[in-house]
Amino acid sequence: MIYSGAPAAPRVFDSVLRGLLASPDAVTYRPRMKAEPDRETARESIIEFRNVGYRLPNGQPLLEGLNLAVGRGETLVLLGRSGAGKTTALKLINRLLNPSGGEILVEGKSTCSWDAIALRRHIGYVIQEIGLFPHFTIEQNVSLVPRLERWPVDRTSARVNELLNLMRLDPAKFSKRYPHELSGGQRQRVGIARALAVDPPILLMDEPFGALDPLTRGELHKEFRQLQRRLEKTIVIVTHDVGESLLLSTRIALLDAGKLTGVFSVKEFLAAREPVAAAYVANFRMYEEAERTNEPD
Ligand SMILES: Nc1ncnc2c1ncn2[C@@H]1O[C@H](COP(=O)(O)OP(=O)(O)OP(=O)(O)O)[C@@H](O)[C@H]1O
Ligand SMILES: [Mg+2]
Repeated sequence: MIYSGAPAAPRVFDSVLRGLLASPDAVTYRPRMKAEPDRETARESIIEFRNVGYRLPNGQPLLEGLNLAVGRGETLVLLGRSGAGKTTALKLINRLLNPSGGEILVEGKSTCSWDAIALRRHIGYVIQEIGLFPHFTIEQNVSLVPRLERWPVDRTSARVNELLNLMRLDPAKFSKRYPHELSGGQRQRVGIARALAVDPPILLMDEPFGALDPLTRGELHKEFRQLQRRLEKTIVIVTHDVGESLLLSTRIALLDAGKLTGVFSVKEFLAAREPVAAAYVANFRMYEEAERTNEPD
């Protein structure tokens, strides 16, 4: 389905589409640092990494020994430096990558036992580069999976309108536009709307609010928190941003150089002695304290 007059689709978009159409080819739960009962694992696990490793074909490890459980309705933030392995961990959940060792369970079933297409349609995925198809209108982008699922036309267009309204994008204004006719923040909203289209119980979001101006990001954060309460999804969200982690997460999983450094509640993270977590918090505080420390002498 190529629409004339629209820009050609780069390869990345083809690969996203292929992922939804066809089969391709830990975040661990570690015991808490303190010997206290774990509130979150009392919930039913929806995603579970069991001793998961991922290596490149040349043998280079990108992830090692990940153990992590994400409970139903939880919003787990994966925090870590660029190159830590966050996107790799997300791709293992929806089987865009297969683990080299260990296994990932989604709703109690190994990802290898899931039909890959069924698994991907069960999981909304907001990809790091937003990943809208440039040759599809906004309406066609958001309705991609409903159309693949052969929803009737009127149900599909009602759903697109509902989602665009949910993301505060007026359907009358935006449906027929192409992605290049939107601002970055509007495109990010469309990416989120597309991931929610068939109401998947699980949502993977890879830096969904990155590259936005702080005010727009703040507005989207607010909307996201309302959505969390209303939609009750199980969400894994990748970010570099400590403020975002504190605001949106039920827990923070810290990845460093392919390994899980720890899993923390917001309160635990702010008080953590673990060096990487403490470095993040110190960095965050530096900006918080700028008002006081940047006074002229
Ligand atoms: N196909 C690949 N071939 C070679 N190296 C790869 C490949 N995929 C990922 N890597 C490397 O693996 C590491 C982890 O990549 P990943 O994309 O998971 O990082 P990330 O934590 O998401 O980083 P960022 O925050 O920058 O998005 C990086 O050093 C990256 O360069
Ligand atoms: Mg990434």
